[in-house]
Amino acid sequence: MKVIIAENYREMSMRAARIMADLIEKKPDCVLGLATGATPIGTYKELIRLHREGLDFSRIKTFNLDEYLGIGLDLSKPYSEDQSYARFMYEEFFSHINIRDENIHIPDGLAKDPESFCSWYEEEIKKAGGIDLQLLGIGGDGHWAFNEPGSSLSSRTRVQALDKKTLDDNYEAFYKKSGISRKDMPHYAITMGIGTILEAKSVMMLAHGSKKAEIVAKALEGPVTEEVTASAIQLFKGDATVILDREASAMLSKDFLSMYGE
Ligand code: GLP
Repeated sequence: MKVIIAENYREMSMRAARIMADLIEKKPDCVLGLATGATPIGTYKELIRLHREGLDFSRIKTFNLDEYLGIGLDLSKPYSEDQSYARFMYEEFFSHINIRDENIHIPDGLAKDPESFCSWYEEEIKKAGGIDLQLLGIGGDGHWAFNEPGSSLSSRTRVQALDKKTLDDNYEAFYKKSGISRKDMPHYAITMGIGTILEAKSVMMLAHGSKKAEIVAKALEGPVTEEVTASAIQLFKGDATVILDREASAMLSKDFLSMYGE
């Protein structure tokens, strides 16, 4: 594991985008695992800027980590009625680069049979040759994707009930501005499992802000536990890069940083 400490959100985003761009330049048909949330927005913005300078996304494939159950991309609906992660991905990233629609994979929150959809999604990742680089954030309770506390570290893509803290956090950050009430937001999601994520060839986890400092330290330095599913990063066999801004790194110990710091 390598831990990079950036001065601020902007620098964190630039470093993350550079790593992704290097991979795309080296392997133009690479498979990227993508994340939602406020954290990766700056990374997507920088990748869009690099695209304007010539970075080519025409051969990459992408797989998103998760989607709320019960909603899916419907661009004919206004934002207030379609708060899907799919919509987020198009607005923040896909609509601004030259990726092909057929190369984009996002869990289908409107799948009629979510269980078979989850198995299909796992198969598609395999057929694509596996994920070369999985981008990750970290939830307030230490989750990766929507792998809430208690999720098995060998879990696969599945339907997951969301915890109160996640619902509260995501309502504030995402749902509130739509006018949808807290009780009407989706309480379930389709999520890649921790086992699925650990099969990626490399992972890159981002976190920023003092609100994430304690959970970042738990995930990176605490025991590997299903209670903090991002702690699975300590089990990761390939290249794992963590990029934090200074505030999110504040509770990491000196010993840890001297071992894993850049
Ligand atoms: C959601 C997503 C996660 C994301 C987390 C943190 O729960 N499912 O993939 O890491 O939010 O979001 P933020 O980056 O806004 O803190």
